[in-house]
This record gives sequence, structure tokens and C-alpha cells, in this order.
Amino acid sequence: MKLLFIGDIVARPGRDLLRKHLKALAATLAVDLVIANGENAAGGNGITRDNANDIFAAGVDVITTGNHVWDKREALEFIVTEPRMIRPANYPDGTPGLGSFVALSRNGVKVGVINVMGRVFLNTLDDPFRAATREIARVKELGAQVIFVDVHAETTSEKVALGWYLDGQVAAVVGTHTHVQTADERILPGGTACLSDVGMTGPHDGVIGMDKTAVIARFVTGLPGRFEPATGDARLHGVTITTDPATGRATAIERVAVTEAQLQEITDRASAAAR
Ligand SMILES: [Fe+2]
Ligand SMILES: [Fe+2]
Repeated sequence: MKLLFIGDIVARPGRDLLRKHLKALAATLAVDLVIANGENAAGGNGITRDNANDIFAAGVDVITTGNHVWDKREALEFIVTEPRMIRPANYPDGTPGLGSFVALSRNGVKVGVINVMGRVFLNTLDDPFRAATREIARVKELGAQVIFVDVHAETTSEKVALGWYLDGQVAAVVGTHTHVQTADERILPGGTACLSDVGMTGPHDGVIGMDKTAVIARFVTGLPGRFEPATGDARLHGVTITTDPATGRATAIERVAVTEAQLQEITDRASAAAR
């Protein structure tokens, strides 16, 4: 059982990559389930109902989020009726939506997907470590054989610590939020695959997805300014995790980092093979 997790989808360039190429990429990588972080799908901030529908239609099975989840207010409403989109589990009690979802993969494996958010340099929510433990119990009760955790956090230390904390209990702990893919993938002794940050799916000709001129101006002048999403050099960043459903452990973890041109080749090859 192999799953693909796609890093933060940023604005239209990120959504377009998925719409045009995800099905061919998933077929080429032979993945059984696709998870994606969608917190920046709407112009870099938040996610609309239409964005979520488009992402699901592109071939994503579960959408995770993070600190930008409520930037588009409509998310507070549609998350209640769309359980395939989750928000960090450690938001306080009473927050709309849930922090986990159990999906059925194409090869019939129940996969528990959990989202938690770090507290270092972010809004201080409830403890993500204990929240993760609670959600693991919940998805297991619902029959999850394989468990995946998206830890949306700023610091590598908090993400690595959560990986060790959950080692042996879940198949993977993968970080999101910094939008820069790290190269520290490994499988811990208990069988939990870890990667500090999966990276970003969207325009890389900018500063973590936003137009570089405005971001540089804010750093240089300290004055407030409006950020628009960048447009050029769209890339898809993700990671595949191979697991044994009998044990719930990971057997392989591989980073994915592809340019739009490489994705076009994959799509062309897949459609040539189908003809
Ligand atoms: Fe993000
Ligand atoms: Fe974030």
C-alpha cells in the first residue's frame, strides 16, 4: 500500500498542476491513496468550497490544512459537511470540523489521516503531541490499518520530536507549512517514516509561493504591504510512503520534486500508453 502526500497547494499555479497532471503522476507512481495539504489553495490564503471540489476532482482523497485553514470564512461551514477535509486536531474543543479522517484506499486499505499543528512560532493551540495520541485512538477505533500524520509546524525540532514520539504507532509523520522541502527522510526504528517538510506545490519563482517583490519590500522597509501569489516556475513537491498494512509500518519513503515540464512528460507518456 503506497500513498502520495502532496505539500501545500499554493494558489492557481498549484491547483492547475494537480488538475493537469495528478492522475498521470499517481498512476506512474502506482499510489493507492493521495493526500494533499490545501491550506493555501485560494490565492495563497485559505481554501474555498470550489477549491476543495477541484482538488478532490483532480484525484486527491483527503485534504489536510493548517494555520491558514479559516482565511476563507466559508471553510468554517463546508468543513462540517465535508469530512474528507480536516483541520489541525489540536484546535480547541468546539472548533468546526475534525482533526482526522479514515479513507479507503484503491486497494481496500483503511488509512487514518491525522492533522496537527505545532505551537512554536504559531498560534498556541492545545498540545499537538497529546492531540495526536487521541486521534490515533479515534482512527484505530474506526478500523485504520495504516496511519498518516501531517504535522503543520514552523520548526524542524518540533516535527522531528513528534516523529520520535509517535514512532511505532503510525506509518508516517510528515511536516508541512514551511513550503521548503527538506532532505531528511528516514524510517525510524519502530517503523515510522519521517520527513521534516514535504515542500510546496505551486509557484517557486517567489518567496514560499508569494510574489517576491512585495515580500522583499516588507523585509527591507518594515511597512505593511499586500502579498499576491507568485506565478512562475510551478513545481509539485510531495512524498510517497510505502507501508505494510499488516503491521502498519512504513517500508519506504521517497521524496517527489517535479517541475511542470517533468509533469508534462509524465502526462504525455501516460496518455501515449493509454492510446
Ligand atoms: Fe502552507
Ligand atoms: Fe501554514
